[in-house]
Amino acid sequence: MSTWDERFSSGRYPQNPDPDPILTRYLEWAPDGRALDIATGTGRNSVYLATQGYEVDAIDQSIEGLRIARQNAADAGVEDQCEWINADALAFTYPRATYDVITVRSFRVFDRLTDVKAALRSGGMLYYQDHMRTAEGVDYGPPTERRVGANDILRSCLDLTVLHYREFRSGSEDHRGAYAQLVATKTVGDTQPHPHRRTIDPAVE
Ligand SMILES: C[S@@+](CC[C@H](N)C(=O)[O-])C[C@H]1O[C@@H](n2cnc3c(N)ncnc32)[C@H](O)[C@@H]1O
Repeated sequence: MSTWDERFSSGRYPQNPDPDPILTRYLEWAPDGRALDIATGTGRNSVYLATQGYEVDAIDQSIEGLRIARQNAADAGVEDQCEWINADALAFTYPRATYDVITVRSFRVFDRLTDVKAALRSGGMLYYQDHMRTAEGVDYGPPTERRVGANDILRSCLDLTVLHYREFRSGSEDHRGAYAQLVATKTVGDTQPHPHRRTIDPAVE
């Protein structure tokens, strides 16, 4: 059993976590259609995307994570919209211009970003959150050399239209983490998409 299989089966990792608030907030910028969730874990974002009407491909190396994610999708009544792919996301052959939304949370896809961005359709949206290097202590996440540095994700996505970028620390005193977070859309020629479901309140932008 892999480390992640053990974490999932022991219940140490949330079995049915809420989707990322930043994803739920920005999804209206994305076209409807097909989504890819890389390193889905227990399906936090893939199940949410399916409930929003997307056909979802979800990749993870953990069979146990995918088992729980499948159950979460069934409980939400969206199992028919989800394809669970047990694969190594670092070696995966990402299809080109296929997805309207791609999400990656807490997994280092940084070295495959060129292929991940190429997998977006024109106008499609990327949400990527990863662990950051920090001078202060963190209690979880990968070692420093596997963390992104200041503005790494931002710089690597400047060929997209960046809607949101933030570096932040989170967690309680004994559960501290550091993250970089980006939402960006793939430009269409010399134009870019705007929200198609409702207007975002400019006061909170
Ligand atoms: C911190 S969890 C994040 C899970 C999910 N994205 C979330 O936010 O709840 C990291 C996930 O990456 C998966 N993972 C680790 N290495 C992987 C690889 N090479 N290919 C695919 N998945 C991998 C683990 O199985 C685990 O589900």
